Amino acid sequence: PPVSLIGAPTDVGAGHRGARLGPEALRIAGLGEALAKRGVDVADRGNLDGPRNPWQKPVAGYRHLPEVVEWNRLVMEAITAELREGRLPILLGGDHCLGLGSITAVARHCRESGKQLRVLWLDAHADFNTSQVTPSGNVHGMPVACLCGLGPQALTHLGGDAPAIRPDQIRQIGIRSVDEGEKRLVKEYGLDVYDMRYIDEVGMKGAMEEALEGVDENTHLHVSFDVDFLDPSIAPGVGTTVPGGPNYREAQLVMEMIADSGRMGSLDIVELNPVLDKRNRTARLAVDLVESLFGKSTLMRD
Ligand code: ARG
Ligand code: MN
Ligand code: MN
Ligand code: MN
Repeated sequence: PPVSLIGAPTDVGAGHRGARLGPEALRIAGLGEALAKRGVDVADRGNLDGPRNPWQKPVAGYRHLPEVVEWNRLVMEAITAELREGRLPILLGGDHCLGLGSITAVARHCRESGKQLRVLWLDAHADFNTSQVTPSGNVHGMPVACLCGLGPQALTHLGGDAPAIRPDQIRQIGIRSVDEGEKRLVKEYGLDVYDMRYIDEVGMKGAMEEALEGVDENTHLHVSFDVDFLDPSIAPGVGTTVPGGPNYREAQLVMEMIADSGRMGSLDIVELNPVLDKRNRTARLAVDLVESLFGKSTLMRD
């Protein structure tokens, strides 16, 4: 399908400022051109225009909740419009709180069109915190919980009905940092987590085969790519680095296996923070990986 790039230049959900520059960094790294070169029909919709980052302390366990709600509403509407036109939206974040708006839109689209939804959450973090257990108040640590119905009404009911998704529709890959209270919730909700320990033991290929199990012709695959998924030695341009992530080849394999499924219907690229980067290398790596997501491989395959 044709692709639409949608920039959401904000870091209201994060604890560092700079992810608001993510969309431009990805454009400068050549994302649109790289897709066009692969024969993808791509339109850049420009950036959404939401509230500024007030840079305040958390209130009742949430930082910037009204701004987070507004940005997510804008993202949800923009993604919905693209899906209705039969396009494949790529959300250029922005911090990962925006995964809430994006996936809420995708989940609603799947319900309306009778598709099965599978979310692949590529991340160092589970992002399953609540206001009671968050160590930071940063909402980018909470979107998966909100999607599963756990969180403030304004976020859990963003798309009307709640919960937006069931825990069994999501697979988390690359996880290596989960906060204490968050661990309890992840267990309680039964999230399917392929953490780095598991990936070390069974290999990335085995983990991805399991994560993609059951994906069929009727599946809409949503990929939520938090760039801190990658090992910080190859991807330093993110606010919340955690050592021990996938290396370059493992990350490529993830993208190649998703491409092979042929079912990706939407994508988030979030948490890229060019302020913390070296010469935009993390954005360039993200573009390289997205090329693989769209089928680039070393040798031609058929
Ligand atoms: N778990 C930590 C928190 O809740 C970090 C979350 C980082 N999330 C992210 N999308 N980078 O603050
Ligand atoms: Mn569709
Ligand atoms: Mn993360
Ligand atoms: Mn994340």
